[in-house]
Amino acid sequence: MSQIQSIRGMGDILPPDSAAWQALESLLRDLLISYGYEEIRVPLVERTELFQRSIGEVTDIVEKEMYTFEDRNGLSLTLRPEITAGIVRAGISNGMLHNQRQKLWSSGPVFRYEKPQKGRYRQFHQFDVEALGFEGPDVDAELIIITNRIWKALGIDAIELELNSLGTPESRVRYRQALTDYFEPRQDELDKDSQDRLHRNPMRILDSKNPEMKSLIADAPLITDYLDPASQEHFSMLCELLDQAGIPYRLNPRLVRGLDYYTRTVFEWVTDRLGSQGAVCSGGRYDGLIEQLGGKATPAIGWAFGVERLLDLYRESGGASPRADRDIYVVAVGDSVLQPAFKLVEQLRDARPKLKVEMNCGGGSFKSQMKRADRSGATLALILGEQEIASQSVGIKPLREDVGQINVDWSSLNAALHDYFDMKTNLN
Ligand code: HAM
Repeated sequence: MSQIQSIRGMGDILPPDSAAWQALESLLRDLLISYGYEEIRVPLVERTELFQRSIGEVTDIVEKEMYTFEDRNGLSLTLRPEITAGIVRAGISNGMLHNQRQKLWSSGPVFRYEKPQKGRYRQFHQFDVEALGFEGPDVDAELIIITNRIWKALGIDAIELELNSLGTPESRVRYRQALTDYFEPRQDELDKDSQDRLHRNPMRILDSKNPEMKSLIADAPLITDYLDPASQEHFSMLCELLDQAGIPYRLNPRLVRGLDYYTRTVFEWVTDRLGSQGAVCSGGRYDGLIEQLGGKATPAIGWAFGVERLLDLYRESGGASPRADRDIYVVAVGDSVLQPAFKLVEQLRDARPKLKVEMNCGGGSFKSQMKRADRSGATLALILGEQEIASQSVGIKPLREDVGQINVDWSSLNAALHDYFDMKTNLN
């Protein structure tokens, strides 16, 4: 029979790699809780219209990258290409934004039909943080300070913050006009996509990845020259807060982001260690989006990073992957031993819920079970054979040091394990 292949660009997360994912997720959860952010979980599938109206009709994501299909009722649905729109929809439809402010985080898979390569997938995972109902720039700074703390906690320093302001929708109208005026007489130098966008969404020409248009784009007008005074003030206060927090940044007036909902602050953490997929974490302010999706006008800002890219960068920076090793492997030789062995091991789990104890399953000789114990990475083997059961004792054999086996009574097993495992971390 032929094998069923996985879908291109949609990977499996296998052990022992999954241990690194769990460790990262738990670090982030603790950190965000410590900053007062709460978890929100939103569906993987939403009405297509949600993404069209938020990310923007004339964007790569909406035009080329969404997984869109009709359900059995003919309703157009889309696998989420990002999490922000779903969070905003949930905030509005659950009445979470009526004179309230929300600091939220979420994580999980997102889907984009991009050309797969290292660091770029069709199913990838985002960790997403949003602050809804805050004008900033204090919260803008807080969100960036959180990201900085994450990199520090992971020992990542090959990462740089790029910062820009896109101003208000009104100041953008003037900028759009300036861009149209600049690109119109140079239409021949634009590729087909950009010609198409010239009148529909000229700002999207700026994030074209076509190298032939690089110098044309480099000479285009800068958005910073069209900023309104209030946005300018917001931006310079943010810069001051970051200066005071000791977080270096590079002003990049070319940073416009590929989604249409952004206003004012936008930023990206980039690295040169991951080849062409250098954007690790990206975000910005979207003060108009909530109203645009039918809610009351509410300012908001957030960021998301790709978990695959962050873990790649972590490893690239010399970070070690956590080991999924067991503490104890239980060697139980002989069918008559199984029942008392299970009983003893369950008592041990009651007394020490945090110990990682693997029971040998599937039988095998003493020798083959000891081999499995060694491969499991366990610190100790607990050995139970017919002799031990008869004398109500258990063998303790350290596997990582050259010392012999000792035998202890069942009643003193827990106490004997003190010598091998730290009580504070293993006892609840
Ligand atoms: P984004 O820049 O489209 O922004 O994606 C955020 C992050 O997801 C990127 O910085 C990158 O690390 C990762 N990423 C994007 N595409 C791929 C891919 N094909 N494969 C692997 N990783 C990828 C957003 O999604 C916004 N929702 C961010 C945001 C939150 N803005 C405000 N709040």
